[in-house]
Amino acid sequence: MPYKFTAVFFSLLATIQCWGIDNSTQENPAVNLCRMDKRNHQAVEYVGTRPSGGRVQLGLLLLEGLQKEDFVLEIGAGALMSSIPIMSFLEMGHYIGIEPNQWLMNASLKIPENREVVEKKKPTFLPNTDFDASSLGITFDYIFAHSIMSHAAEWQLPLFLKNCAKVLKEGGKVVFSIRLTEANGYGCEGADQETHASEWQYPGCSFFDKTTVEREASKWFSKVEYKKEYTALLTSDSRSVCHDWFVLTK
Ligand SMILES: C[S@@+](CC[C@H](N)C(=O)[O-])C[C@H]1O[C@@H](n2cnc3c(N)ncnc32)[C@H](O)[C@@H]1O
Repeated sequence: MPYKFTAVFFSLLATIQCWGIDNSTQENPAVNLCRMDKRNHQAVEYVGTRPSGGRVQLGLLLLEGLQKEDFVLEIGAGALMSSIPIMSFLEMGHYIGIEPNQWLMNASLKIPENREVVEKKKPTFLPNTDFDASSLGITFDYIFAHSIMSHAAEWQLPLFLKNCAKVLKEGGKVVFSIRLTEANGYGCEGADQETHASEWQYPGCSFFDKTTVEREASKWFSKVEYKKEYTALLTSDSRSVCHDWFVLTK
């Protein structure tokens, strides 16, 4: 990965770390990390993302140009590890999360500091399993989904792409991770062939060919980018998080 790119990313992360809820200004919005203790330990183990990983996920959206006035849909909010930093960066009411396994978020909301962020930022959560937020009538600037398509059934990838396109603004972006059959050189060895799973795979993974992702995504999006450098940003926080990343622009 080019040195300059890594340096920019880590200075972004350092900036996020310096922002605090008490000293926020117009130029310097507040960012909170999700707190973790024994109350949400089981949920954190289930999703496999720690608070520092949540901060890196916000970092990816900032690299893609996220602004505090944007509307963000996160698909698969899990234990709120990235949801808390993302919603705390955004203006009130601008974060929407989809999470069918609500015990995961409820565990993190047992911690008062996490609850305070949610009470202040007034997010909306939906329990859908069909990746569809159109019932809210909002069009989004960004849709983010980490470690969701990497467990998806074969039929869920086209459904995800179609329902993302339905609620994304013109020029908006979908930033999501998946597992490709090709090895990526960052610890993900890939697979001999696509999984073709008929149902959600968890804790196992499903694998798609890069050409499948590109073919399906180009039905709905004008630009389909494979972002190999984003894998390295995630593995620099946690070596096992070696997913492949795509950015789709409508
Ligand atoms: C590996 S976890 C990742 C959670 C979170 N994105 C993170 O990075 O910590 C996978 C998440 O997908 C959620 N999930 C499962 N099926 C889903 C569906 N059909 N739509 C949205 N989320 C789903 C699970 O409940 C779980 O929270």
